[in-house]
Amino acid sequence: MLDRTSVEGVSNLGDQLQNCIASPETALCIPPECYTSDAILSEEIQQIFRRKWIGIGPAGRFKKAGDYEALEIGGVPIIVLRDKAGKLRAYANTCRHRGARLLDGEGNCSGIRCPFHSWAYKLDGTLAGVPGIEEMPDFDRAQYGLIEFQAAEVASLAFVCLDKNAPAVEAQLGEFAKLHRPWPMETLVPLRRRTFEVNCNWKAFIDVFNEYYHLPYVHPDSINAVYDPPKPSDKVTGEFASQYGETAGTGGLLEDQQEHALPNMAGLDPAVANGVRYTWIFPNMTFAAGSDALWIYESNPICANRSRITQTACFERQTVARENFEEAVEQYYIRLDAAIAEDIPALENQQLGLNSPFAEQGRFSPNMEANVAAFANWYARTMLGN
Ligand code: FES
Ligand SMILES: [Fe+2]
Repeated sequence: MLDRTSVEGVSNLGDQLQNCIASPETALCIPPECYTSDAILSEEIQQIFRRKWIGIGPAGRFKKAGDYEALEIGGVPIIVLRDKAGKLRAYANTCRHRGARLLDGEGNCSGIRCPFHSWAYKLDGTLAGVPGIEEMPDFDRAQYGLIEFQAAEVASLAFVCLDKNAPAVEAQLGEFAKLHRPWPMETLVPLRRRTFEVNCNWKAFIDVFNEYYHLPYVHPDSINAVYDPPKPSDKVTGEFASQYGETAGTGGLLEDQQEHALPNMAGLDPAVANGVRYTWIFPNMTFAAGSDALWIYESNPICANRSRITQTACFERQTVARENFEEAVEQYYIRLDAAIAEDIPALENQQLGLNSPFAEQGRFSPNMEANVAAFANWYARTMLGN
């Protein structure tokens, strides 16, 4: 829990966070120091990244046994892979011999072999081979398997939790799966996945993705005209926020490229065929679920002022199989990149202002920033241990 006096150089942080715990009409924004202080980032790592279930993008990229990715959660190197029984597993990316990192990047493997002294592990984490084991008396291999974390799949999204005692992912996500049943989450195919870095706090990146307020000012000629004002945000149980809004055409394309629209996803509920649902799974994964595409962002802190962002674009299986898909999908990537290219200068500019010692908490536009206000409320309660 965040002690009111525990973070060096930040006064009244507890009182400031209390101001976030209110309805979007009256709440104040997250304190500026929470976007700029590395001491507060250390608290976030303890209170949030090492305790909560963390979304790590689409589970569909771990398709076959042995498909793996090395990633970091709150600075902890981990390996996520699919084992031979089809189960998603997460391990510390740290050898049980003398601690070397075992895997880098992504790929497929039949087992894991440490690059340092060649200790070998099976996909289920058990230690299978140790060079020179015959010279090591009483060596019990069962004691030296990989350190395992909880991993889970919900609505075809992958989650990992570093806290062995945390409740099941369903307890954290509440009504998340139910609210997204109108989209055929199970048949979405993750396609382009790319990573880039932005000079902004990890929270700021997801803030801007989730709010409509900036659209006319930051995206006046690219996507603003596509989006109608959003519906009131959904009142949900679970640690996420979500808001649906109608669109003129598809939210997945620039306003002047709408003729390239792909058909609606097979299995899409017609009730959501003319809009986009923006969902933020707390703390650091968010996505937009459109009628034809779903695009996901994960935001991870490098330091308080810099973040690593991973974007994945997903399309429904039958859409991907279409003859003109390769050509049409390029227009979707162009739209995603164009919006990000407009958001990044706005975010980096915001970060410069937030770093002022005179920055103070502002107010929300209640409906246009509903998801941002919901996150601020959750963040403040989580950091205060409420
Ligand atoms: S550190 Fe991995 S085998 Fe030595
Ligand atoms: Fe934006």
